[in-house]
Amino acid sequence: MASFCSNMIGFSLLVLVLMGNTNATLTKDYYYNSCPKLYETVKCTVETAIAKETRMGASLLRLFFHDCFVNGCDGSVLLDDTSSFTGEKTAIPNKNSARGFEVIDQIKSAVEEVCPGVVSCADILAVTARDSVEILGGPTWDIKLGRRDARTTSKSAANKDIPAPSSTLNQLIKRYNALGLSTKDLVALSGAHTIGQARCTNFRAHIYNDTDIDTSFARTRQSGCPKTSGSGDNNLAPLDLATPTSFDNHYFKNLVDSKGLLHSDQVLFNGGSADSIVHEYSTNPSSFFSDFITAMIKMGDISPLTGSNGEIRKNCRRAN
Ligand code: HEM
Ligand SMILES: *[C@@H]1O[C@H](CO)[C@@H](O)[C@H](O)[C@H]1NC(C)=O
Repeated sequence: MASFCSNMIGFSLLVLVLMGNTNATLTKDYYYNSCPKLYETVKCTVETAIAKETRMGASLLRLFFHDCFVNGCDGSVLLDDTSSFTGEKTAIPNKNSARGFEVIDQIKSAVEEVCPGVVSCADILAVTARDSVEILGGPTWDIKLGRRDARTTSKSAANKDIPAPSSTLNQLIKRYNALGLSTKDLVALSGAHTIGQARCTNFRAHIYNDTDIDTSFARTRQSGCPKTSGSGDNNLAPLDLATPTSFDNHYFKNLVDSKGLLHSDQVLFNGGSADSIVHEYSTNPSSFFSDFITAMIKMGDISPLTGSNGEIRKNCRRAN
């Protein structure tokens, strides 16, 4: 009996080693043995952060998106500038905008306490995004882990790879397709704009110049966002005017009512190819939730570093 068990263990180890070498994919039980307290440790810190400031849930979810769209989900968004590279934090989509880095630091410290040197910052972003959605009233799901962290990154990659809010529907579809994401994934993931805030500089052109916007909604938003570029650029407005701190399907109801805040939101319901998906999600929250989960898992699969690529950073802000 004893020898049967030890043979089995030996066999399982062999299988794991072979998988590690030949099949560089993410798995659901990646830290099952190496960090059994990972999930409770992350969730506890995320809960505390969101209790302190509800918007933080939105900011943390967005960090995962910005990470995955630039060189894959490799924790690159978290790297501070060094003498050898300028990182992503000062790229146009992130500067004065991306937030939550201190919370990621707190989570990383808490995880290092329970299992030092084991869990990547890229995986911490994935767990944190999942937990944020659930805490704000959205769905939860099993995530795949096993990503490793990039040692370097670049500001120019972030400027090129993260879609701008002035994007057309075709530009968005093209960018998502290049990453293996469909139009349906684009629409479902955009549903993340059911939480969080945007700055006037990112919706000014839409509320003053676009015609695919409800006029009374445009006027309301204009009152907090001066027409002249440079004034009030950082004034905030909720991405979802109805329930800005709940993860629900209200974002899609807004689009159907021409009350999307960003140009890149309203293009999803504009007489184009995404209309039917938006309409479906606006009436059927459970189909939004289930497609959102599918799309989040697909986004999380974008070009991870695995095997001996990358590293497990000790501090999410810098390479070891
Ligand atoms: C379709 C392409 C997308 C564009 C063009 C876009 C653009 C933007 C812009 C301009 C902002 C406001 C930033 C600011 O004014 O400081 C924003 C906020 C946000 N975005 Fe996106 N986004 C896109 C997709 C996504 C995706 C896929 C997610 C997550 C799955 C996401 C999650 C968020 C969240 C949660 C916020 C609010 C953040 C906060 O309040 O701190 N976005 N996005
Ligand atoms: C609106 O469009 C005009 C003409 O293209 C442009 O000059 C102006 O700066 C735009 N205004 C805003 C607020 O984007």
